[in-house]
Amino acid sequence: MICLVLGTRPEIIKLSPLIRECGRRQIPFFVLHTGQHYSYEMDRVFFEDLELPAPEYNLDAGSGLHGEQTGKILAGAEQVFFRHRPDAVLVQGDTNTVLAGALAAAKLHIPVGHVEAGLRSFDRRMPEEINRIVADHVSDLLFAPTETAARYLRGEGIPEEKIFVTGNTVVDAVFQNLEIAQKKTGVMERMETREGDFILVTAHRAENVDDRGRLAGILEGLSAVGEETGMQVIFPVHPRTAKMTREFGLDTRGIRIVPPLGYLEFLLLESKAALILTDSGGIQEEACVLGVPCVTLRENTERPETLKVGSNVLAGTDPMTILESAREMRSRDRGWENPYGDGHAGERILDALARRGLT
Ligand code: UD1
Ligand code: UDP
Repeated sequence: MICLVLGTRPEIIKLSPLIRECGRRQIPFFVLHTGQHYSYEMDRVFFEDLELPAPEYNLDAGSGLHGEQTGKILAGAEQVFFRHRPDAVLVQGDTNTVLAGALAAAKLHIPVGHVEAGLRSFDRRMPEEINRIVADHVSDLLFAPTETAARYLRGEGIPEEKIFVTGNTVVDAVFQNLEIAQKKTGVMERMETREGDFILVTAHRAENVDDRGRLAGILEGLSAVGEETGMQVIFPVHPRTAKMTREFGLDTRGIRIVPPLGYLEFLLLESKAALILTDSGGIQEEACVLGVPCVTLRENTERPETLKVGSNVLAGTDPMTILESAREMRSRDRGWENPYGDGHAGERILDALARRGLT
């Protein structure tokens, strides 16, 4: 019996190929939802879009300070693991859910598999960087999406036999859902837009949106890009960003702010956008896989593969730099290669677990 731990939007999406594959192979498993995300449009909509079974457990951890949120998940996950003694626990990514899920399992000597291991921004001010490093170092199987990630792990002294280069399950999810998403054309009508005639934006990173100056810089940059290109700037806004924009009383003129979208509608918009501007990790990857140019609203990235192949550029939050980066990316040739794998990462991960006798 394996346990898949998830709690936030990207984890539901990136673990969905593994959940499907467990079903296909008839591997006994259960899903532990930590409840880190709980609003319908950050949680349930993805189970519906991806036709996933309801989680067996929900810890209802909710929002809070890091210690409080991580602590609740740690205590709750420990109870569940104690009761069920899964043969292995899988966590994905770099959230507080991952930190607590991996730690709870490791302390009970349950083998931990970290999906998307080895990513490094080398910026320890990001909570995600701390979470990744700790999760990697308490894990027994490290599923690195690329050779670059595997190299970082080796450099930190992780033994070779624990590392598996699998590709990123984000590609599995895109390949499995793009065709279905292409039929969700209602969203294009709702947004009153056409293919190649709009710019898609997301931003939610704490270091950006909890800082008045940085969030104001992003919004100013976005409206400048909209003005120069004459294109609609569509911004499905994360609840954290909505809250902070309100609290800071910032101007969003020239930007079409909409509620967060389900995965299928969002994937369709991504695939048809002229340009994507984001501080999201998963969206840097998806843009690269879909062949859509990306401007990252950060000074660093743990996705250096996207910079290397030329699908992405770092702009930070200065309005002028955002405008210049958007110009540069719109004129770039889109023929880059996809560094994140062939869409079979989930299968490789389950193969590795089987070889270790864990499934
Ligand atoms: C978390 C992750 C981040 C990930 C992101 C994916 C950590 C430290 N951060 O950030 O790495 O990129 O999820 O989206 O684990 N809120 C709601 N409804 C929800 C969830 C959140 O309204 O369902 C609001 C609350 O006001 C909450 C805020 O968003 O305080 C932040 O939520 P939280 O889970 O703490 O962090 P995220 O910014 O979502
Ligand atoms: N996403 C979505 N609807 C939205 C915004 C994002 O379905 O309105 C999906 C997107 O396709 C990607 C994932 O959410 O797969 C990224 O999540 P997020 O940016 O919240 O987290 P990160 O990847 O930065 O951890």
